Amino acid sequence: MQRVPIRPFRSRDWFADPARSDMTALYLERFMNYGLTSDELRSGRPIIGIAQTGSDLSPCNRIHLDLARRVRDGIRDAGGIAMEFPVHPIFENCRRPTAALDRNLAYLGLVETLYGYPIDAVVLTTGCDKTTPSGIMAASTVDIPAIVLSGGPMLDGWHEGELVGSGTVIWRSRRKLAAGEIDEEEFLKRATDSAPSAGHCNTMGTASTMNAVAEALGLSLTGCAAIPAPYRERGQFAYETGRRIVEMAYEDLRPSHILTRDSFLNAIRVVTAIGGSSNAQPHIHAMAQHAGVEITAADWSEHGYDLPLLVDVQPAGRFLGERFHRAGGVPAVMTELLGAGKLDGDCLTVTGNSMAENLSGRTASDREVIRAFDTPLKEQAGFLVLTGNLFDVAIMKTSVISPAFRERYLQHEGAEDIFEARAIVFDGSDDYHHRINDPALDIDENCILVIRGAGPIGWPGSAEVVNMQPPDHLIQRGIMTLPTLGDGRQSGTSDSPSILNASPESAVGGGLSWLHTGDMIRIDLKAGRCDALVEEAEIARRRTEPPPPVPVSNTPWEELYREKTGQLGDGAVLDFAVKYRGIAAKTPRH
Ligand code: FES
Ligand code: MG
Repeated sequence: MQRVPIRPFRSRDWFADPARSDMTALYLERFMNYGLTSDELRSGRPIIGIAQTGSDLSPCNRIHLDLARRVRDGIRDAGGIAMEFPVHPIFENCRRPTAALDRNLAYLGLVETLYGYPIDAVVLTTGCDKTTPSGIMAASTVDIPAIVLSGGPMLDGWHEGELVGSGTVIWRSRRKLAAGEIDEEEFLKRATDSAPSAGHCNTMGTASTMNAVAEALGLSLTGCAAIPAPYRERGQFAYETGRRIVEMAYEDLRPSHILTRDSFLNAIRVVTAIGGSSNAQPHIHAMAQHAGVEITAADWSEHGYDLPLLVDVQPAGRFLGERFHRAGGVPAVMTELLGAGKLDGDCLTVTGNSMAENLSGRTASDREVIRAFDTPLKEQAGFLVLTGNLFDVAIMKTSVISPAFRERYLQHEGAEDIFEARAIVFDGSDDYHHRINDPALDIDENCILVIRGAGPIGWPGSAEVVNMQPPDHLIQRGIMTLPTLGDGRQSGTSDSPSILNASPESAVGGGLSWLHTGDMIRIDLKAGRCDALVEEAEIARRRTEPPPPVPVSNTPWEELYREKTGQLGDGAVLDFAVKYRGIAAKTPRH
């Protein structure tokens, strides 16, 4: 017996619209040229898109080229017809001037594809940092049934008996290089040893964080996020994901049913517990905006900051993705939060069940890696939200603050987590690299390194550059981190306690634009304040001076991006795009 979908499949409008039977032949014939039959296409079965993010240019997601075969098997076995298509490539490490330009571009492209073609539901293949938010943003705009299939992290990296994790090994090895402890060949060896297989970053960087966020939002099958790419379970989840999306198509279970304020708050909580990337902040705000859900900076303070760090994975902890998966992965972390009353278990998920139902029986099996809620690695491990005369909003990832940094800046007697530091201001990363070792700057441990021109408009795209390394002479004296501040981002794999994502950025006239080297900055973490100690009259005078230089746009998209993109504090979305939501309710005209 033919199953009846809750809402007629939109692909019928292409392949079986009685009012335009003259168009049907045109729509059908070219899909048949690779072997599909008109009977299949007109059978009334759902067309399931596989949004393919893997390619030779996207090595983090390349596993999806293989996984798609199992997704297709699942789709076919459940009675759907698969159509795979490419998504604009995004590769965090290699895309210049920054992969952040690609999140909104891939979003735009995916919206057009999902809207303009006969696709009833979609499997979003995710992995490398921005492939996850861009897919989810597009799914919300179009609002057809959508499910996330993560590609999974690489296997754990080992170098001479020591775990070496993606990105984190780079930041740590750069300091060793500056201290003269290793040479460049050793640097390269350590870096390549951190990438032993297919998959995305094996640390709790932005990729693992955003895939965990997708799972926390209820958008993937339970336990999907953390399975390492080469594990057999990855292929099995690909198959089950393919099966499930067909059912979702019949049930008309759409992102707008799943993405609620409560599910986003769950995601914020999970980011704290896993020690997740600071990039989760703009991406969660971006996804929420496209879902029509209000999430503010205050939500990170109110719902995220007070929670503990439960996961001992780099950069906040010691281990890597394989151990995390074997310990129980994201469901085991969520089970701890649920048990402590810190998670909303009622949220609907792609399984068709509530999050609490999905989590039943999913406890951690390795307490070294996933701690119980009552015996965490760190208390109050969420992002601190700061404000002041230099910006309206910026965040600081507290889970990576080292005991040495805490001792030096935050816990001296009477200090109450307040410190003052002399600003050293850099205009973009080239300026930083040229001048960081310049003796004339006289940088010592009482300085804060500031970078501007690194936000969405200034860079353009916003760059991961705020985790600036101290000058070599300080590193050689054992000072591995200085406080840093900037209007750009930092890598999710960084262990630097930076104040970042400062919005509004310097390039649009934010406070960093008038800051001078030598100004004193006062940071009061308890009060959530960060202020330059500069008189109002002097600030007004400086505002009449020419603004700091910003590089020209070099591509058409850079120019358009600059024209239309907002600030990191709000997710750096294309402002005009947010109003388009649920557009699949109206099929495009013939
Ligand atoms: Fe692609 Fe980290 S660079 S996942
Ligand atoms: Mg990154």
